[in-house]
Amino acid sequence: MSENAPTAVADPLSPEAVKRPPPHVIVLFGATGDLAKRKLLPGLIHLLNADLLPEEVRIVGTSTSVLDDEEFRSLACAAITEFGKEDLVGDSWERFSELLSFATSGEEGDSGAVLAGRVREAEEEVGGEAQLLHFLSVPPAAAPSIVRELGANGLHENARIIMEKPFGTDLESARALNEEIHSVFAENQVFRIDHFLGKEAVQNILALRFANGLFEPIWNREHVSSVQIDVPETLDVGTRAGFYEKTGAFRDMVVTHLFQVLGYLAMEPPTSLRAKTLGDEKVKVFEALRPLDPEYVVRGQYEGYREIDGVAGDSDTETFVALRANVDNWRWQGVPFFLRTGKCLAEGKRVVTIMLREPALRMFPQSAGVHHHEHPNALVFDLGDPGSITAEFMAKQPGATMALGPARMTFSYDTSFEAANQLEAYERLIHDAMTGDHTLFTRADGIERLWEVAEPLLDAPPPVEPYAGGSWGPESAAELTPWNLAEEEEE
Ligand code: BG6
Repeated sequence: MSENAPTAVADPLSPEAVKRPPPHVIVLFGATGDLAKRKLLPGLIHLLNADLLPEEVRIVGTSTSVLDDEEFRSLACAAITEFGKEDLVGDSWERFSELLSFATSGEEGDSGAVLAGRVREAEEEVGGEAQLLHFLSVPPAAAPSIVRELGANGLHENARIIMEKPFGTDLESARALNEEIHSVFAENQVFRIDHFLGKEAVQNILALRFANGLFEPIWNREHVSSVQIDVPETLDVGTRAGFYEKTGAFRDMVVTHLFQVLGYLAMEPPTSLRAKTLGDEKVKVFEALRPLDPEYVVRGQYEGYREIDGVAGDSDTETFVALRANVDNWRWQGVPFFLRTGKCLAEGKRVVTIMLREPALRMFPQSAGVHHHEHPNALVFDLGDPGSITAEFMAKQPGATMALGPARMTFSYDTSFEAANQLEAYERLIHDAMTGDHTLFTRADGIERLWEVAEPLLDAPPPVEPYAGGSWGPESAAELTPWNLAEEEEE
């Protein structure tokens, strides 16, 4: 374990938190991969243009592709042009391209030493004392050997490491991975990324709950009847079949993003927004999560998935999952949390729905238009970019009767705030890692607990059910909805 582990942690609420980080060399593992092209390279140039990269910085890309510096720059330029929001006008690209260099891993025998050489050169260019930031955008199986190489070549000193999910594939592998990482890096050097936590709209859950007196009083089992977290995607698995076939929707999305969102929704008010206190409260929710019951899980696979290159003809990988989770604590006992996500579905959305209980006394007759099961009071969080929050309720329709109709009030980010300061999730998280702020990252103990919760499902997964592309998933998923609960209650 490194003795030079950085300890300075910025206060997330202080103005210093948005100051420029100190000199850095950023090492991008998997620099020619999908994530680097779509998010990381476009994100880094946006940070540069927003003056949020260090004044002195170099970016060393590395992967198994054989590229020289110029070829890597061309790849970066093409990626930024296709996926970035930057206009590459003026000297923006010039400035960025000068920061880039590339080291092919596996090229000249000892790849770790080749990379170390390029990193040392980059350090000299930034003037000697640079903080290292390793971003591991690589398949889970590749991470342990990279961590070992970094240790063997001294690249763990004065360094931080960002790890991409999934962190292992089950409890045992997550523990082994954490041990492996901790044999080289101290925990405060490790930044486990879950990019959903970098989304403005997800952080806004905390603002809404804890900066207002309006919602927190109803945020419990007395008033909330169910919580739904939905992340349907229209995308298919595209060119990621190799990764997806081993991962599936549950590991790719639920045990990571959806459970993290659940953590924010269900946590007790932390005493501060510092990384430790916020992290402790989130982990307490995970501790209270009941181990998943496979009986309340539906797994689906879209028709045509097995024909994709790289997918087994008899693949059992789920591309859709719906499940019911329970948080066994005083606040949430008896409130089901319905989580659903999948590929190739009818719509792409990221939505949280907090359904509120029916008022204690039914004063309005059914004929007044109050069908609580059809139009429950609900708070709907659209976690898209930009996000929105909608309160859904019943209101009196104008006229001489007491007829009611569904109504809504919406707060929308794009019309309410100046969007210029907005950082995309990865941008925010890379910046936070450079300033040493762990607040929006996940912790080893939380991740291990989530794998523990997942264990019964991983041990005895229900069979995958086929569904048509463009649908809402297998029909049996309808059983895992609040509407089905309402019917159960009425029976
Ligand atoms: C990634 C998953 O972590 O999140 C992808 O691996 C998924 O399968 C993506 O499509 C969704 O993220 P976003 O930000 O596009 O909603």
